Amino acid sequence: MIDVKIMPNHCALRLAHYELLDTSEYSFAATEPIRKLHKSLSVYNETPLIELKNFKGVRSIFIKDESQRFGLKAFKGLGGVWAIYKVISRELGLDNPTLEEIFTHRDELAEMTFITTTDGNHGKGVSWAAGLFGCKSYVYMPRGTVEVRAQAIRDAGSATVEITDMVYDDCVKFTASLAEKNHWHLIQDTSWAGYEEIPAQIMLGYSTLAYEALRQMNYQRPTHIFLQAGVGSMAGAIAAVFAEVFKENPPRVTIIEPTEVACFYETMRIGDGQIHSATGNGQTMMAGLNCATPCELAWKILRRYAADTATISDDVAAEAMRVLAEEKIISGESGCAGFALANAALDSDELRRALELDEHSIIFVINTEGDTDPINYQCVIRNA
Ligand SMILES: Cc1ncc(COP(=O)(O)O)c(C=O)c1O
Repeated sequence: MIDVKIMPNHCALRLAHYELLDTSEYSFAATEPIRKLHKSLSVYNETPLIELKNFKGVRSIFIKDESQRFGLKAFKGLGGVWAIYKVISRELGLDNPTLEEIFTHRDELAEMTFITTTDGNHGKGVSWAAGLFGCKSYVYMPRGTVEVRAQAIRDAGSATVEITDMVYDDCVKFTASLAEKNHWHLIQDTSWAGYEEIPAQIMLGYSTLAYEALRQMNYQRPTHIFLQAGVGSMAGAIAAVFAEVFKENPPRVTIIEPTEVACFYETMRIGDGQIHSATGNGQTMMAGLNCATPCELAWKILRRYAADTATISDDVAAEAMRVLAEEKIISGESGCAGFALANAALDSDELRRALELDEHSIIFVINTEGDTDPINYQCVIRNA
């Protein structure tokens, strides 16, 4: 069933008048070392930005296509490699080292182990980045994960991968306890009280894609940004960059989640400023967005800068995957979600009004993954 729900962020409405948020760590100057690291990687290429002009009556939709990032089919490696680089630099006592400097410490690198929980793409980034530096890595996955995603993580780099019978949140707790017991480095892309340093770096790592897109748009201000969320780290980071760059008039940000796993929807509905877990049945093909609890750090940004939150059903995502395929953009189940909201909302007068979309609107979305589950991708595309 086609199902889209939109709700204003009650917290943003309440907090906007008194809560100032310092986003200066996301400024162009502060994030320069991150872009420098990314650009020094042999697999680095700026990913494409595609403009669909006059799409369903809006002026433009800009789609930042991350489906080819670092050859990993998703954006997530941007955060993983930056966080691992920061840990390695600290462990080796080096300040902003080049890759060449790091590689002179091969024996110490071989002794370092990284661990994470993932529903796919983040683990691929960690496996790849750990492998790149010659470090060991362990990746644990929640129940329901398809084997093809586990194998892609093994193939990407150094990881030993296991699909567990735990749900995502329990799996995160399990890997955190393994990290502590074995003195391994936990590279988790979500934060909680007492675990913020690494997720903060992972989020900063995503700034590269936002600054690439801004340059590709000639720093034109989008009126709307539609960002899909699992734990919200990506959405928080991108919202922070745009809030920093367009300080006087930040674009309107909408968060998108699967109907059955909508923790930001629940958090913004309750509107008490605290995070709240999703209440749905957890069933969705949008595997990367199947996270029941928001990242605290991301929430601190989004409660201020997200104007609204939307939920979409799997059918809405599937339709968007097919529309993007016609535009020659390979977009996976989670990858298409930002575009999916635009695609569905523009067919409905009610949703258009709720999002204040008109012929002047310029929408920015991110295709966060390609066909990371190629079998399901083909099924969805052929159903057209
Ligand atoms: C393809 C894809 N898009 C979006 C997200 C959401 O990112 P976050 O969990 O930071 O909200 C993920 C997370 O794994 C993902 O894999």
